[in-house]
Amino acid sequence: MNSSSNHPSPALQFLDARRSVPSRQLGAPGPDDATLLRMLASAVRVPDHGKRVPFRFLRIAGDARRALGERLAERSRARDPQAPEAAIEKDRLRFGFAPVAVTVIARLGPDEKIPEQERLLTAGSVCFALLQAAQALGYGAVWLTGWPAYDEQVERWLGVQAHERIVGFIHIGTAKLEAPERERPDPAALTQAWSP
Ligand SMILES: Cc1cc2nc3c(=O)[nH]c(=O)nc-3n(C[C@H](O)[C@H](O)[C@H](O)COP(=O)(O)O)c2cc1C
Repeated sequence: MNSSSNHPSPALQFLDARRSVPSRQLGAPGPDDATLLRMLASAVRVPDHGKRVPFRFLRIAGDARRALGERLAERSRARDPQAPEAAIEKDRLRFGFAPVAVTVIARLGPDEKIPEQERLLTAGSVCFALLQAAQALGYGAVWLTGWPAYDEQVERWLGVQAHERIVGFIHIGTAKLEAPERERPDPAALTQAWSP
């Protein structure tokens, strides 16, 4: 059954309520393993041209978050020896707030039929679907990248292979504050009708 814009369905209301929670506002409790798997089961339901499954997940939780933070701080200093202490500390804490961060890794490499762009888009869609699934289960989440998503040393530490790319770190936890809303784009202003 269709529902009008004056009476949006619960599903549409849910989609319209989607918003990110900044990672420093994410705290315990995070999803347990079963709940996280449930979220991922929803997240993998993405359009996937050729059914390539061009993604995989790496869960960063518990003490591993602190260990990664120490490495990021070390790497941050190596990347920029002049970096102020505050910047190093920010990197040390990148994974220090949300109880769980799911690294979404695109699996690319040669493919005779499906363009790389399409496989990358599928992996990106997984990130968005995971945000929605987290929110549907009552958690807050945010999709972050920053330099660690593009750094060769971090890739090595995380076991990211040559044909793979980090598309996002999805931080998930309990929102400590109501997430801020921001102005959204006006779809009418972005839409034109094509005429021949
Ligand atoms: C690929 C990607 C990477 C992002 N990386 C960052 C990031 O590193 N730092 C950040 O503050 N926001 C980042 N964002 C933006 C947030 O995920 C989020 O969209 C933003 O805070 C606005 O909130 P909203 O999702 O409620 O619109 C990224 C978004 C995308 C799609």
